Amino acid sequence: RTVYVNGDYLPEDEAKVSIFDRAFLMGDGVYEVTSVLGGKLIDFDGHRARLERSLDELDMPHPSVMDDLLDIHRELVRANEITDGLVYLQITRGAPGDRDFAFPDRDTPPTVVLFTQNKPGLADSPAAKQGLKIVSIEDLRWGRRDIKTTQLLYPSMGKMMAKKAGCDDAWMVQDGHVTEGTSNNAYIVKGNKIITRALSNDILHGITRAAVLRFAKEAQMQVEERNFTIDEAKEADEAFVTSASAFVMPVVEIDGASIGTGSPGALVPRLREIYLEESL
Ligand code: PDD
Repeated sequence: RTVYVNGDYLPEDEAKVSIFDRAFLMGDGVYEVTSVLGGKLIDFDGHRARLERSLDELDMPHPSVMDDLLDIHRELVRANEITDGLVYLQITRGAPGDRDFAFPDRDTPPTVVLFTQNKPGLADSPAAKQGLKIVSIEDLRWGRRDIKTTQLLYPSMGKMMAKKAGCDDAWMVQDGHVTEGTSNNAYIVKGNKIITRALSNDILHGITRAAVLRFAKEAQMQVEERNFTIDEAKEADEAFVTSASAFVMPVVEIDGASIGTGSPGALVPRLREIYLEESL
């Protein structure tokens, strides 16, 4: 696989990053995941805009390569012959050469890394037909989940808790209300209405979320942005998650309770179809 690191395209085993890199020592980095379908990048502009926002919120200087990111994405997709898959992008506050809590000088060169993941058949995964089983866990992450940082230990632990419970993923709960999934936004459906938590610092502002809600409204579905509980979710007609890698993915079970019939319903598969059609 060809990867990109700080200006160079290299075979993955030749790419190097300093042991003093702030993302390695402090989790001081931001990232984006952009999906590739049929060789085409999905929603690149949205991911790029959120990346800029993440950098700004953390007072991280924008690397000079910002204007070339689309070209780098395209070059990696081409070099690695990705038809369906993902491009991972990470920017860190660089490697000042020692460990220090305070941010280094603003002229410290940032670390910019991109690589691809090949996922043949990404859009027709069996999970989309079966639906996901979800377990609820407490949301113990920090308070700025709107910034897409590389601090992913708790979401990783959440996936492991889900696995241990025989589930596919976890929904996190704060003050009795669902925030989001470990790596996706969470929704419930009642009749023709889609309910999802409103944007705030409590959740990541999903790029897929924005697109899906826009398409839903265009398709005459109702959208209500408000908090909901796990109990309300268990009583919902349907449920789903969205992310760049899952697109629109039905949820069929929460904490052992079947949602609707226990199989994907009508609205969510339709919304998935609309999303994939409109995005391509
Ligand atoms: N995760 N919420 C969280 C906590 C996420 O990590 C993600 C994305 C989302 C969905 O955002 P988007 O629609 O922009 O992908 C919501 C990516 C896919 C990941 O970490 O792999």
